[in-house]
Amino acid sequence: MNIKYDVLVSAQEISEKVNTLGAELTELYSGEEVVVIPILRGAFMFAADLIRAMDVPVRVEFLGVASYGEETVSSGEVRLTLDTSFPLHDKNILIVEDIVDTGLTLAYIQKLLQSRKPKSIRSVVLLDKPSRRTVEVDLHRTLFTIPDKFVVGYGLDGPGGFWRNLPDIVALREEMENTHSE
Ligand code: IMP
Repeated sequence: MNIKYDVLVSAQEISEKVNTLGAELTELYSGEEVVVIPILRGAFMFAADLIRAMDVPVRVEFLGVASYGEETVSSGEVRLTLDTSFPLHDKNILIVEDIVDTGLTLAYIQKLLQSRKPKSIRSVVLLDKPSRRTVEVDLHRTLFTIPDKFVVGYGLDGPGGFWRNLPDIVALREEMENTHSE
């Protein structure tokens, strides 16, 4: 596949930061159980690496969300496509999200999960695009701050649902944003 892109964050940089975060969370949750909730689909790869760097009893539940509207712009109107399968009351919840842009998606998720009265709730986010934030969200950790560019790779998809399997996080060049070439 012949695509043009610029690497923003390399696989090596991701691996180092994810392992550091895993060690930090191991210390934070020492003696506790954690329900890790990756947000589908973009956070699946980040979560898979993160939980392997966490040495505490972890359960994994998935939450699926889709945002109505254009493919590259969040409308803020979020639709739940998959819900968790057991009660979260009195549990330590760790939300794992791929990217916070306007903040609307994560704000919706936090409100939803908070309503289930967990013991604690924290959000760890791989990528932060602070320049487009329209709503304040409570972030425990963000690993990389990036400029306002549409990025793909390491689990994040682009046009047509492609590019999730790139090991680096990359910004597609302008001419690639609306097309997919073989
Ligand atoms: P927000 O609601 O504007 O914060 O958007 C967050 C969601 O939009 C993320 O969970 C992603 O699914 C998606 N998103 C935002 N920016 C990008 C991007 O650059 N690449 C891929 N997905 C993105």
